[in-house]
Amino acid sequence: MIAIVGALDGEIAEFLAVLENKKEEKWTDFTFYMGKIEDKDVIVTKCGVGKVMAALVAQRLIDTCKPEAFIFTGLAGGLSANLEIGDTLVAEDCMQHDMNAISLGFKRGEIPYSPYRILPCDRALVDLAMQYVPEAGKVVKGRILTGDQFITNRSLKSLQYLYDDLAGDAVEMEGAAIGLVATVNKIPFLLVRIISDRADTYAHIDFQSFLPKASRNSLQFIRHILRGMV
Ligand code: ADE
Repeated sequence: MIAIVGALDGEIAEFLAVLENKKEEKWTDFTFYMGKIEDKDVIVTKCGVGKVMAALVAQRLIDTCKPEAFIFTGLAGGLSANLEIGDTLVAEDCMQHDMNAISLGFKRGEIPYSPYRILPCDRALVDLAMQYVPEAGKVVKGRILTGDQFITNRSLKSLQYLYDDLAGDAVEMEGAAIGLVATVNKIPFLLVRIISDRADTYAHIDFQSFLPKASRNSLQFIRHILRGMV
């Protein structure tokens, strides 16, 4: 069973539309949809926004159906000059940009008193993802930074650490939370985001207009990954 998770309805809608033999199960506020895509057993769910929501859904999935891998998909705000709206970013790794215990002597992003800071995605899944040839836009490999903020002002001096210190290519709000839960539980994970905005003053407008087509853009990509998984 492969878990496919997105934060919002718009990020999973197309997956639900093509899910074969669909069955659903509810747990508190969440609905888990089981079925097949590309002949693979999948469980598709919306986790909601932010790191806590993503982490609790990831752990619930692990405890109840122990997925063999996580694929997290959705939208991200581009930081890298190389990324344009509509491009796909495959995370080589991810980290929490808002984890900050620097005053205690830890590095930015480091979870104090733990081995966790930069969380690598599964190498084989990243290589498979990078073989995808999209109809539009390009596929880029890079670093995703996760935090509980929607960033609309990336050029602020106070956010320069996203570039200088953390060398991020895009920002979003869930990836490294899923990544941490998967890493702690020793489950491979892949994080694939479509760039919906440039984390600038137009970000909220660009994001809202991209959201309805979010999962349409990522469905072909995820199909490619599922086909290639053994
Ligand atoms: N997801 C998509 N765009 C984003 C942004 N600008 N900040 C945080 N998360 C995002």
